[in-house]
Order: sequence, then C-alpha cells, then structure tokens
Amino acid sequence: MNELTQAELLERVNTSRIADGNPRVREITARIVSDLFKTIDQFDVQPDEFWAAVDWFSRLGSSGQTGLITAGLGFDRLLDIREDEADRATGRAAGTPRAIEGPLYVPDAPLSRGEVHLDEGSAPRGEAFVMEGRVVDVNGKPLPEAMVEVWHADENGRYSHFAPGLSPFSLRRRILVDEQARYRFRSFLPPGYAIPPASPTSELFEALGRHGNRPAHIHFLVSSRGMRTLTTQVNIPGDTFIDDDFAFATRDGLIVELEPNTAPTGYESLGVKEPFTRVRFDFVMQQAAELSESKPQARMARALD
Ligand code: DHB
Ligand code: FE
Repeated sequence: MNELTQAELLERVNTSRIADGNPRVREITARIVSDLFKTIDQFDVQPDEFWAAVDWFSRLGSSGQTGLITAGLGFDRLLDIREDEADRATGRAAGTPRAIEGPLYVPDAPLSRGEVHLDEGSAPRGEAFVMEGRVVDVNGKPLPEAMVEVWHADENGRYSHFAPGLSPFSLRRRILVDEQARYRFRSFLPPGYAIPPASPTSELFEALGRHGNRPAHIHFLVSSRGMRTLTTQVNIPGDTFIDDDFAFATRDGLIVELEPNTAPTGYESLGVKEPFTRVRFDFVMQQAAELSESKPQARMARALD
C-alpha cells in the first residue's frame, strides 16, 4: 500500500484530499505536477540538480525577481497575446495596443495636471525630449478625466525603487490630462535596460545562452472612468534590441516617431528653450465592458483587489 511506483505516486499526489478544496487550483496543480514528474523522468534529473533548482527558486523569490523571469520566459507577452485573441474574437480589438507592464511599476507617483517635467530637479541628461498627445476613445472623443501614469529607466537603464541610490519616484509621474484631454511631459530619451547581473535571473539566462536586454522604452498605465485600463509601453526607434527584446514586448504600433531638433513655441512652462526631440502619441482607449476592467490599477494590484 505504501510502496509506490511513479505512476501510483502521481495518482496519489493528485487525488488525495480531505475536502473539496478549489477545483480549478486542484486541476491546474495536477497538470503542472504531472508535467514536472514527466520532465524529471525524461531528463533523468538527478537529486543534486533538483535541489539546486529548488535553491534557485528560493533565491529568486527572496530577490524579488519573479517578475523578471515571467517576462523573460514569455509569460507576460503570452497573456497579452491571449487578451488580444479574446478581443478579436469578441470584436473588441481596437485602440492603442497593450504591452506588458513589466515588474517595475510603483503606484502613487507624484501627481500633476496636464504636464510635468519628469526629471525635474536633476541636471539635463542628453537632448531634451517632450512627449505629448491626447487620451481619446475609439471614436476620437477626448477623455478629459483620464490619468496617464508614466515611468522609465534612468540614463544607466535603472529604475527608481528597484536600483539603490535613486531618489523615490524619480522618473515616475501621474499626469491628469487637461480639459482637452491633453498630456505632455519633458524628460530625456532613456536607454535600454538589462537584467541585473549576478542575480538569479541572470544565472538562468546565462545557462540558457540568452541575453537579458530590453530596447529603450517608456511605460504607461492609462485610466479613465468607464474605460478599459490600458497598460502599454512605447519603444524608441533605432535601438539595437528593438526586434530582440528579452521580454518579447515590442509591438509595431508602439514604435514612436521621433521629431528631432524641433523648436516649436509654447513649451516654456516645461523649461525647454533649445531645440528638442518631440514625440506625439495619442492613447486610444476602449470602453470597459465591466466595472473591473476600468480599475485604475496595475496588474498585480488588480489581481489581488
Ligand atoms: C523587465 C524590465 C523592464 O523594464 C520591463 O519593462 C519589463 C521586464 C524585466 O526585468 O523583466
Ligand atoms: Fe521597463
């Protein structure tokens, strides 16, 4: 009775119970455990290899890098692809394409109305850059209650709150659009990003023979009452990794057009005097199908709410 073959053990693991539990969790766990039993058997995984992998998981968890691994192994993009497919199937595919949130969002960034100098208080970093546009619905109607949250990496590819030494909320802001649903911000064009070296994430990527680079990008979380919260990013053209993002997040509709060396007037309030690089980009939001879709929250917070 207590001498078990592999198959009998798997059956016992997946069927033993003293209560109903959660049927969905039971089914999915059974599938994952079955697949891992098979993997161990097929590759003749040795105990030392197994325990090294368990140790890697523990270090991954305590380093707070689980979100880096999900992005790098394609899960974040997979969820986007599946939502895109569902949108096409239900005739909802419209508006600005979604893109992965990444693991580096921080809520409650400082709030401004209409415009903000994203890197205020710090020395100029490269050519000034202004990004501006409107938030509209799929019919082009302005959404004057919209909130645009923006975050990007610093000149060394690091994010505040995740790399030591950066001031809180640096390069993170929330912009409540103006009465014409316009937003604009001044910053600098960020470089690409690379996963932290000498970390559980980089260990796995080295073992896989993969790089951990992302092309230059800027993150957005756009929300408005009654509209489906939009998580997206734009990519800056010309980056070496634009078609080779380790997180697979680049999308055609999200590569912005740079207008370098422009000198339009009306940007004095952002302190831009020299010619600068401009990007114009409107965010086009879908109507929310249900209340939960319009929660102005990031991925993890929405899941846990
Ligand atoms: C990761 C980093 C990012 O800046 C991002 O946008 C997505 C993913 C990462 O390290 O996994
Ligand atoms: Fe990022």
